[in-house]
Amino acid sequence: MERTFVMVKPDGVQRNLVGNIIACFEKKGLKIIGLKMMRIPRELAESHYGEHRDKPFFGPLVNYITSGPVVAMVLEGKDAVGTVREMMGATNPLKAAPGTIRATYGMDIGRNVVHGSDSPTSAEREINLFFRPEELVNYQRDV
Ligand code: CMP
Repeated sequence: MERTFVMVKPDGVQRNLVGNIIACFEKKGLKIIGLKMMRIPRELAESHYGEHRDKPFFGPLVNYITSGPVVAMVLEGKDAVGTVREMMGATNPLKAAPGTIRATYGMDIGRNVVHGSDSPTSAEREINLFFRPEELVNYQRDV
């Protein structure tokens, strides 16, 4: 089974969307194996978004993602990375397909409600940045 890293961003928390967003993934059938609310330390934000270091939006992105609590999670399932990306829609909520999470809940490319890993390699890196191995819960699901 594949794993992916997902985060409800500060705008999603501020706008009381945490439950709705988690519910989307749960209803789809993805399995939550890690979940926590946290404030992201600046250093962690800079590593997480390291690939965007040279982009003009890097500073604002780090300021924003550290501006308030986020809800970080690890989801497991068949093609979890691709499935979550399909469900989130395009980075820019105004370009995201109707029905996707970003299209439904967002309007701004920076405040786009949710983050999900863009590949299995990124997923492994991001899971390790945000979660210690003992924070991931191993359990059987019968549904
Ligand atoms: P995310 O999936 O978390 O990964 C990188 C983030 O950079 C992206 O979502 C956007 O929220 C953010 N971002 C801010 N400004 C831009 C921009 N101009 N182009 C692309 N991404 C941007």
